[in-house]
Amino acid sequence: MTDSTKSMLRALPSLAGTAPPLDLGDLPEGPVTLFLDWLAVAQHHEVAEPHAMTLSTVDASGMPDARVVVLKDVDQRGWAFASTRTSVKGGQLEVCPNAALTFWWQPLVRSVRVRGPVIEASRDESLADLQARSVAAQQAVDPDDWTLWRVVPNRVEFWQGSPDRRHVRIAFVRDGDGWRYET
Ligand SMILES: Cc1cc2nc3c(=O)[nH]c(=O)nc-3n(C[C@H](O)[C@H](O)[C@H](O)COP(=O)(O)O)c2cc1C
Repeated sequence: MTDSTKSMLRALPSLAGTAPPLDLGDLPEGPVTLFLDWLAVAQHHEVAEPHAMTLSTVDASGMPDARVVVLKDVDQRGWAFASTRTSVKGGQLEVCPNAALTFWWQPLVRSVRVRGPVIEASRDESLADLQARSVAAQQAVDPDDWTLWRVVPNRVEFWQGSPDRRHVRIAFVRDGDGWRYET
């Protein structure tokens, strides 16, 4: 890297957004409620495409890979996304059914990380997801190939940056049938 590239990068602002208040004394019992709350705040602040997330997987040799996909649903079963089974990510999930998701909502200086095993949804659910897409999007894929997966969270981290570097990090870690917090 040249000196001018380094100084150009150093001059770029980071964590330049404005974080909403966060009450650590009033956390919900599990991560889904807090995630939906943060997503609603992101929508309220007109964060562009807040449902876009980086999906990280690994290939058969353990080499990581990542790409952006959209979130299709969130509930107690997990964070859902869809793609073709024959895609690179589909092949990677076949050999290693674990994944991580990363959201970054820059205007709010907020990021969420989700990790855990990945489970394929039923064929009916995958078809329902395909049918909810535009006609053009439906025509672009083979219905048998279209697949909905869920990342079943065993750890969900909520991170909120602060200009004074007093960043807040709360991780929900699965603990039996419930969750415990780590900060
Ligand atoms: C904002 C955004 C949203 C995307 N959403 C999806 C998606 O929901 N599903 C999908 O298969 N690809 C989506 N893509 C394309 C993927 O990033 C990726 O290029 C593609 O799925 C092939 O990835 P793979 O070769 O690792 O399987 C999206 C890309 C962007 C930039």
